[in-house]
Amino acid sequence: MKIAIIGGGPAGLYAAILLKKQRPSADIAVYERNRADDTFGFGVVFSDATLDNFEKHDLPSYQRITQEFAYWDDIAVHFRGTVHRVGGNGFCGCSRRTLLRILQERARELGVTLQFEVDLEDESQFADADLLILSDGINSRFRQKYVDHFQPEVDLRANKFAWMGSTKPLDAFTFIFQETEWGPFIAHAYQYEAGHSTWIFETDPETFERAGLTGLDERQSADRMKEIFGWFLGDHPLLINRSMWRNFPMIRNKRWVKDNMVLLGDAKSTAHFSIGSGTKLAMEDAIALADAMQRAPNIPAALDLYEHGRREEVEKTQHAADVSLVWFEHVDRFWDFDPVQFAFGVMTRSKAITYDNLTLRAPDFVAEVDKAFARQVRAKGFDVDVEKPVAPMFQPFKLREMTVTNRAVLSPMCMYSADEGVPGDFHLVHYGSRAIGGAGLLFTEMTCVSRDARITPGCAGLWNDAQEAAWTRIVDFVHANSKAKFALQLGHAGRKGATKLMWDGIDQPLEQGGWDVVSASPLPYFPDSQVPRELDRAAMDAIKADFVAAAERGNRCGFDMLELHCAHGYLLASFISPLTNKRTDGYGGALENRLRFPLEVFAAMRAAWPAHKPMSVRISATDWADGGVTGDVAVLIARAFGEAGVDLVDVSTGQTVCEAKPIYGRMFQTPFSDQVRNEADVATMCVGNITSADQVNTILAAGRADLVALGRPHLVDPAFTMKAAAWYGADTFCPPQYLPGKEQIFRNSVRDRQDFEELKIKAKPKTRAELTAEAAKPLAAE
Ligand SMILES: Cc1cc2nc3c(=O)[nH]c(=O)nc-3n(C[C@H](O)[C@H](O)[C@H](O)COP(=O)(O)OP(=O)(O)OC[C@H]3O[C@@H](n4cnc5c(N)ncnc54)[C@H](O)[C@@H]3O)c2cc1C
Ligand SMILES: Cc1cc2nc3c(=O)[nH]c(=O)nc-3n(C[C@H](O)[C@H](O)[C@H](O)COP(=O)(O)O)c2cc1C
Repeated sequence: MKIAIIGGGPAGLYAAILLKKQRPSADIAVYERNRADDTFGFGVVFSDATLDNFEKHDLPSYQRITQEFAYWDDIAVHFRGTVHRVGGNGFCGCSRRTLLRILQERARELGVTLQFEVDLEDESQFADADLLILSDGINSRFRQKYVDHFQPEVDLRANKFAWMGSTKPLDAFTFIFQETEWGPFIAHAYQYEAGHSTWIFETDPETFERAGLTGLDERQSADRMKEIFGWFLGDHPLLINRSMWRNFPMIRNKRWVKDNMVLLGDAKSTAHFSIGSGTKLAMEDAIALADAMQRAPNIPAALDLYEHGRREEVEKTQHAADVSLVWFEHVDRFWDFDPVQFAFGVMTRSKAITYDNLTLRAPDFVAEVDKAFARQVRAKGFDVDVEKPVAPMFQPFKLREMTVTNRAVLSPMCMYSADEGVPGDFHLVHYGSRAIGGAGLLFTEMTCVSRDARITPGCAGLWNDAQEAAWTRIVDFVHANSKAKFALQLGHAGRKGATKLMWDGIDQPLEQGGWDVVSASPLPYFPDSQVPRELDRAAMDAIKADFVAAAERGNRCGFDMLELHCAHGYLLASFISPLTNKRTDGYGGALENRLRFPLEVFAAMRAAWPAHKPMSVRISATDWADGGVTGDVAVLIARAFGEAGVDLVDVSTGQTVCEAKPIYGRMFQTPFSDQVRNEADVATMCVGNITSADQVNTILAAGRADLVALGRPHLVDPAFTMKAAAWYGADTFCPPQYLPGKEQIFRNSVRDRQDFEELKIKAKPKTRAELTAEAAKPLAAE
């Protein structure tokens, strides 16, 4: 078998090693345009888990790499004169030059041919190769040559960065967030061998411009960085080696394979430097390709297995990198945070590290985070314990005169079980049990302001006395048997009305018994949905009056809070999104116009709703569709409602148009809550695939939301909050009938938590000390 590899970086060399081990008789050659010891960049970084993977696949190179490594456990965050160190991270760094030398030596030893100073223009000379590996790096010439086939997507990020080095010793992965007269600069730095560290500097394009970096050469810009970070670097110089400022390209390819050619490493996909995974991804690509070659019966099957088997893992890493880079791009959002909360945000930015996970490895740090959170709560007038605070989820929160005893919320969820809009026994049990289960705040399902405002025939309403009486019974039960506060969500279905019950076909038009639907513009939701009538002014006034009348009824029912539903493509949302509002009058066009009717309705309800009771608005902070609402627009929407007197923005997303392409994942809507809260300066509630109390605490402690709503998790677990309270040892109200259950779970949770933590600690990847001891053992003979 003949295998040609274009590009002798970590991906190409490691693939050569693994494939040669597998097929000693194969003719494997690596072609590299640089000289053997010619290398740009400074250090590379791997996590303990990545090294474990290398150990499994090639012990000799693993041992040589680990002998050369600098190890560290801590991440240090420098911000506004403070340093927060978080241990237990298990990272290692080595010089890129050393890594390449080790891989080159190992490849040679196995019989791989290495040809340097060969800059390949085309692949015709490899016509007889069985496999051609394209590992020619970030600017891959061969990916470009077959651009129509591979279909790369290159997302050039806004921030500027430059890779430099220094002789400054570091004993932690170090982030320095530096305020300057021009704006914020960030240094990501780590030691990779004795006396050498990598320094990546990052800043936004405006700060870059203001700092006069445009047009400076490498040395001059290193001098400017030395001026900024000199207080930390001391006498140590900044070293340069192709240290030009650039914009990071996030690269993805639709296809990875063409005939017998396969993309590997940076040529195929990149991951932002802030999660330190570029070289890891490249080498793990090589592992995945070698594994596929071992398992599949022939090369086409192996390439197919590589592409389809590895894609998900790569996309996960890239998603984590995306989330992380976005955090760094918007660091100014958090600039006014308490430094410990800021550091917690740095640590948890990419979702992999959470509150519980940090509690295990850095309990003192999390204790400080909890105290800072409690101090903020105390500053709002609550008499909470700051020295031994409860976890953020169990800290109280106040909106106007309404206080919630914890931050967990039952998200509004239609039950489609009302009879002519009247909620019945199902609703009493549903809301009653979730209230007893401990949630601090409950939202009703979307409660419709008129018969024609319903989504489905099963939707609840509040336009007549029977409905008012039925809701009063439920509110009274909740207030009598729990400490939960109860918010009424009022809405109008708009063009999504007259549709089937969820379990009969969500958003699908009713075949019989429907009614006429209305919207901002006469656009059907699905092509075969009913075409809605465009609202005229008289109809808008009537609907506004319906909202006000329902709000007044809600107050009489005893609800503590009122939410106006302006999300998910329903009537008021249809005014806000440019995708559903094509009006040419004063209610269409610019955002200011599109917001006019929703704000009018809000103002009329606010006037009718008692001043001491809070109001929220639910918005779709992105339409997940081209030309629609984006996070930046959501900030403007939230500001407009904030100015109108809204107390809380309930940040949801999507469901505006049927062709939307949402990107789901854990806590997938939280970044929007984060953006709205910290840019529009309003309190927010976030929601969306948040399934654990650990995530709730992570979000709250990082300042990404003030309340956290859970929808589906509450459907199967009414006592979600009670269980979490037991886990975190936070006392919570329980009605006397259920006290024995509470006492048992609080008692058992102490032991369960200890067992769980012991297990977690046992399962922790190898530590630096263990790795160092292993590397000191004699080399394995292979
Ligand atoms: C300027 C720069 C500095 C960096 N510094 C660091 C750092 O300090 N730490 C870190 O962790 N990561 C660093 N990275 C990122 C890291 O290098 C990559 O993520 C990783 O090396 C990817 O491995 P690879 O094998 O896919 O690509 P590369 O390492 O880029 O290897 C590709 C190789 O292909 C060769 N090549 C390209 N075209 C041809 C051709 N036509 N013919 C023959 N050979 C060709 C190139 O010379 C190169 O050696 C840096 C990247 C850049 C661009
Ligand atoms: C069955 C069901 C009904 C829902 N009904 C409503 C509703 O009436 N009003 C609303 O604003 N959101 C509604 N939603 C959206 C939820 O409030 C929530 O935003 C969504 O389920 C995502 O959160 P989760 O991942 O915690 O479930 C509904 C969701 C579900 C699953």
